[in-house]
Amino acid sequence: MHRILTGPLTIESVTVAIAGLPDRLQGTTLVHLSDLHYDGFRLSETLLQQAIAATNRANPDLILLTGDYVTDDPEPIHDLAQRLQSLSSRAGIYAVLGNHDLCYRHSQTQITQALTAIGIQVLWNQIAYPLGADIALVGLADMWSREFNPQSLLSQLPLQLPRIVLSHNPDSAVPLQAWRVDLQLSGHTHGGQVVIPGLGTISQWLDPVRRKVPKSLRRGLPLMRKCHKVVQHWEWAQGLHRIGDHTLYVNRGLGTYFPGRLFCPPEVTVITLTGKPTPDAWGAPMANNRDVALAVNPSCGAIKSM
Ligand SMILES: [Fe+2]
Repeated sequence: MHRILTGPLTIESVTVAIAGLPDRLQGTTLVHLSDLHYDGFRLSETLLQQAIAATNRANPDLILLTGDYVTDDPEPIHDLAQRLQSLSSRAGIYAVLGNHDLCYRHSQTQITQALTAIGIQVLWNQIAYPLGADIALVGLADMWSREFNPQSLLSQLPLQLPRIVLSHNPDSAVPLQAWRVDLQLSGHTHGGQVVIPGLGTISQWLDPVRRKVPKSLRRGLPLMRKCHKVVQHWEWAQGLHRIGDHTLYVNRGLGTYFPGRLFCPPEVTVITLTGKPTPDAWGAPMANNRDVALAVNPSCGAIKSM
């Protein structure tokens, strides 16, 4: 996608406080990248190289990737992996997959193998400890897949243990309310792509209008597509959000869908971790709520999705 339609790469810097962060991890630098959509059209080589250079300039302790490496055909993952080999981080690179990485039956295997071959650890319902045993990194299956199952992972972790959760779709912050999550990193929304300053994403504003238009008329009208199927919570389309006790960061991504971005540039996120006291209530085990409704949608083949 041409720079005129994407806007310039933006480096966002945020500090996130994590309860009980070990002293030795004060000031840890994470770099978060998402939604590359490397398919020959939606991400230019120039923007990709800028993002890789910006990531390395941040001198990260850990690089975290939250999915949608390709758009439909998984084949471009091999060329993308070659380019991602130049990423450099002290404690490694960890990734989860997005809905677009699951489009074909062979997509998940092909993408996982290509990333693993260059040393990127792909977490699919797995827990890793790249920063040491005293902070967990949880990588979830995509929320729209049948294997999205945070219960099986998060119930294994002692409540006192700080954890960062990678989950492509920010709507997963709703079911994740049932567990301790210090920091959730997501993408998927591309920030909404078209943003009205001071008002939010255009999708957020169109949804209430769309609901008032009779179904029979929607197909024939521009912008009447069901954007709420991309996410339920457009209000979390980008940036830092506090949801209950849980901090969510949503990256605007690097790839761009037609017709382009407006006031919503592609992003590399540099996150600095800092500590804060652990709440007394976390001295006792937290209830695991199995009754939280999961807004599970069909995979990307069935609906138009970011
Ligand atoms: Fe996505």
